[in-house]
Amino acid sequence: MSEEERKRWNARYEAREGRKEASRFLREQEPLIPSEGRALDVAGGEGAEAEWLARRGLEVTLVDLSDVALEKAERAGRASGVKLRVERVDVETESLPRGPFEVVVCLNYLWRPLFAEFPRVLAPGGLLIFAQPTRSNLERHAHPSSRFLLEDGELPGLLEGVEIISYTEGWTEEGRHEARLVARRR
Ligand SMILES: C[S@@+](CC[C@H](N)C(=O)[O-])C[C@H]1O[C@@H](n2cnc3c(N)ncnc32)[C@H](O)[C@@H]1O
Repeated sequence: MSEEERKRWNARYEAREGRKEASRFLREQEPLIPSEGRALDVAGGEGAEAEWLARRGLEVTLVDLSDVALEKAERAGRASGVKLRVERVDVETESLPRGPFEVVVCLNYLWRPLFAEFPRVLAPGGLLIFAQPTRSNLERHAHPSSRFLLEDGELPGLLEGVEIISYTEGWTEEGRHEARLVARRR
């Protein structure tokens, strides 16, 4: 991943006002999510999900390429009284922070080699929560472009060292065609 990509994401986050809500898909997993231990949000952007996890009592690390996103996440966390650990990590060239994590979240970001890393940083029995649009999403949306999309039906074949708890693929309430997965490390 190039410096250019970082600049592109920084510019996007600089231009963006306000912040989205934590993902509905993540919130729906609340009954499965522990209220203590460590969580990692991979490519977690401005930290809406990280903050939601921290409010539940987890000690959360958020990694992202964009320093602007990380600053915003840290600031928003501080303003609402939760402490997030943020780390600038290019996950395409650097390792994920050392685990073990009870929960690993990766939403709207795809780098296929991460599927080999997730079981290495998850605690035994730890949860992986992942969602990403698939190629069918192009039927209704031009973005993300095809290089950022999963192939339809591809996700289960990428998994390593985890057992699927739930897996769906289809149009979501938000109008995107997504593969969504919750899995547990063996
Ligand atoms: C579509 S946003 C998703 C953000 C958040 N997970 C969400 O669902 O709102 C993709 C995120 O991936 C980050 N990103 C892109 N390339 C990355 C890389 N190589 N390493 C770490 N983060 C990266 C971007 O900075 C951005 O925050």
